[in-house]
Amino acid sequence: IKVLIAASEAVPFVKTGGLADVAGVLPRHLAQLGCDVRLVLPRYYRIDKAKLGLKRVPGVLSVPMGVMGNQYGAVFEGRVPGCEVPVYFIEHEGYFGRDGLYEENGEAYPDNDLRFTFFSKACLELCRLLDFAPDLIHVHDWHTAAVPVLLNTAYRRDPHVGRAASLLTVHNLQHQGWAFKGLMDVLGIGWKHFNYLELEMNDQVNLLKAGLYHATRICTVSEGYAREIQTPEYGEGLDGVLRDCAWKLSGILNGVDYEEWNPETDRYLIANYSAADLSGKALCKADLQRLFGLPERAGVPLIGLVSRLVKQKGIDVLAAAIHNILSLDAQFVLVGNGEPWSHFYFGDIAAAYPEKFACFIGYDEARAHKVEAGADFFLMPSRFEPCGLNQMYSLRYGTPPIVRATGGLDDSVDNFDPVSKRGTGFKFGDLTPGALFDTVGWAVHTYYNDREGMAALIQNGMAQRFSWEEAARQYLELYRRTVGPRAPW
Ligand code: ADP
Ligand code: GLC
Repeated sequence: IKVLIAASEAVPFVKTGGLADVAGVLPRHLAQLGCDVRLVLPRYYRIDKAKLGLKRVPGVLSVPMGVMGNQYGAVFEGRVPGCEVPVYFIEHEGYFGRDGLYEENGEAYPDNDLRFTFFSKACLELCRLLDFAPDLIHVHDWHTAAVPVLLNTAYRRDPHVGRAASLLTVHNLQHQGWAFKGLMDVLGIGWKHFNYLELEMNDQVNLLKAGLYHATRICTVSEGYAREIQTPEYGEGLDGVLRDCAWKLSGILNGVDYEEWNPETDRYLIANYSAADLSGKALCKADLQRLFGLPERAGVPLIGLVSRLVKQKGIDVLAAAIHNILSLDAQFVLVGNGEPWSHFYFGDIAAAYPEKFACFIGYDEARAHKVEAGADFFLMPSRFEPCGLNQMYSLRYGTPPIVRATGGLDDSVDNFDPVSKRGTGFKFGDLTPGALFDTVGWAVHTYYNDREGMAALIQNGMAQRFSWEEAARQYLELYRRTVGPRAPW
């Protein structure tokens, strides 16, 4: 089966969130399963062509942008590290010759709709340039959601992609690609598609909604999230659309890159450790306390959090509960950045509780690893969480997660049962400061009073595996179902 994966970011080339992990790691595992897979990304400025040794693909991409006329792009080719999967980078100075991916200084680029319409069309034109006829094009989130629409309309009779099926993975329903309706003239598919079923919503274009409608199939990054988004609470205004699409909607939990996230080999840690010998974890804890200027107390429960500091992650609820949490005999380390108010807020908390709370405002890979290893608990009070990666890392690191039972968090963490000592973490349902505090309190109580329970939690968690092999197998199966009986295999 021949597959083109189109995404707006992928590790190790560019990353702002978990989408990059999926788009960068999935192709490698698909290739191992015998899938003929290729990846296409925009060539942002920060992708260094010389350093990656990218080669120019001969020819020019001519991308029809409706009333804006044809626009031209160049294509560069590289390889996904560690395998032979080709990656194509679409270059266009005007659209991608900038510092950011989607925004600068917290301000989204005003022409993101044009940038990703261009990119979506360029992905299809690329197939012509390469003389590649994919059976399926796998797109991710709103940035590439125009692809399924184009496949069903302007490119329906295209010799290369006209027969391709499409799969749209939703990593986050919150970002939908809203645009002024004039984008219809750039898409060039005819205004008849500007209707309430397809591209129109509130008299604007909604690219994600259009993609949901037109994609052959849709999936999300956990089964739980696939169910939740069909409800008004989680549907971000698209729950009705998603209920209509329920027949073609499913969920596949992301895997973890255990080469990167393994306490036995993690190069960021002062000491490595395993489930059989946890002594290194104590050293990691002391190292973390030192790094953050907290008292080096081995016997105090240390709670860690690494996250984008945004509403999705329940940071506002944490802010409301933090004083109560810090009334416990516990320490707290926070690493993240995001909404500016939170930077000030948690900075002030650190100043008010120097013995108990410390934070690093910014993005830092090394600190993220050190928190996973050095903390006793890992907190994720998400408002919604399509999959979430950190809770899976923390399980592997023997750091039981404390999570709100939603989406991928609910799917990947089993609630602790103090009687049978089963379970891998602590879960709460209501997104309230009270429920959050009570559950942190439960974890802290377990730490101090249930030695056996803590040991079991750690071992149960460390034994869990969320493998990419398994996720890739499920994707391949879904690809086959999506392509349908037409295909010869
Ligand atoms: P999302 O994609 O919604 O942000 P995920 O849990 O899927 O959530 O992925 C987040 C990824 O980004 C994880 O690998 C996490 O470690 C990383 N991350 C988030 N914030 C930071 C930060 N401030 N410093 C380092 N890594 C971070
Ligand atoms: C999004 C979601 C996150 C998920 C990631 C990768 O960023 O917020 O929960 O893990 O995509 O699919």
